[in-house]
Amino acid sequence: MKKVGLKFVAMMIIGIMAVGMFTGCSTSTSGGKVKNAVDIGIVLPTKDEPRWVQDETRFKNALKDTDYSVEILFSQGSSAKEKENVDALLAKGIKILIICPHDGNAAAAAVEAAKKEGVKVISYDRLITNTDAIDYYVTFDSVAVGKAQAQYLVDQVKGAGNPLYLYAGAASDNNAFLFFEGAWSVLQPKIADGTFVIKNSSEALALQEKLDLTREEMSKIISQVTTNWDFNDAKSKAEAHLTVAKAEDKGDVFILAPNDGTARSIADVFKADTDVTKYVITGQDAEKASIQYIIDGKQSMTVFKDVRTLVKDSIDMAISLLQGTAPETTGSYDNGKIDVKAKQTEVIVVHQQNVKEALIDSGYYEAGEFTGLK
Ligand code: BGC
Repeated sequence: MKKVGLKFVAMMIIGIMAVGMFTGCSTSTSGGKVKNAVDIGIVLPTKDEPRWVQDETRFKNALKDTDYSVEILFSQGSSAKEKENVDALLAKGIKILIICPHDGNAAAAAVEAAKKEGVKVISYDRLITNTDAIDYYVTFDSVAVGKAQAQYLVDQVKGAGNPLYLYAGAASDNNAFLFFEGAWSVLQPKIADGTFVIKNSSEALALQEKLDLTREEMSKIISQVTTNWDFNDAKSKAEAHLTVAKAEDKGDVFILAPNDGTARSIADVFKADTDVTKYVITGQDAEKASIQYIIDGKQSMTVFKDVRTLVKDSIDMAISLLQGTAPETTGSYDNGKIDVKAKQTEVIVVHQQNVKEALIDSGYYEAGEFTGLK
């Protein structure tokens, strides 16, 4: 009996090694099944926005020299696809999941499946909400992003009665609330004192005397001015607003745009309106196309979030976890269910005057990628 058992075990080991050699990677077993080992699975929201393609590139660069095997998948703006991606990675035996959810609430099911398999979950850039199946969060300071956008508008404004158009991100993204919260904290006093006049949101007008908004109150405003992080939604919303606005609601205008992709769409619409004499518009992400817009004077500013840092922080965190040590964190975020330990990164404001210093001299982009750079 004993002899047969040993032989069987030896054959199993040889079999497992053969599979490993054939697939060119190491193997692991789980639940009696042989799995190809991918150590770290990364799931990003969509390839349709330059922001996330940028993250993929930075991950690939950072992972070139690691001994761990990694696979990156995109969810193409679908929570169902995101769950399929996570399941596919679990079937490959991942030990760490780094995931940026398409929809923060809907992603709970995917990470709960991962947690059941003993996988450590790192929420990347966007927080997964209302679940305890998440271990860590790596993020930029999103409230600071909103504050910086609003501060830029405030720094450019003079006098009273200046038209202000508000836009926001997708309500399914917790960050959209953090950006808006930060922006409102800076804009509201300047709306209350008459410097700005909101032109495109009755909900925001109804709340303009209130500095600290509840999540429900922010929801009301965001649902009116959301772009859904979609360039076409942003464009049609801006067109609709300018169609109903009177000539006196235009002139020199100020626009809070939540990110670069939507900023370019909205800027194009405002630029095409002959009653708009000048506009100041915000953004974030330092996307290449927006850097060109800033150089050309078509977008006023962006908030540079150095993705290299976020990528490095999440990889360092993953490697600590794989090695069984506790990752370094700087604070925590309440996700509605638990306090999630977080590592947070600062952001940098970029405009025409410092674009070269912030993005070229820092080695983030190359000068040759742009025209008209001084
Ligand atoms: C990210 C932004 C991005 C936006 C749209 C947010 O969660 O923090 O950088 O522009 O999603 O994808």
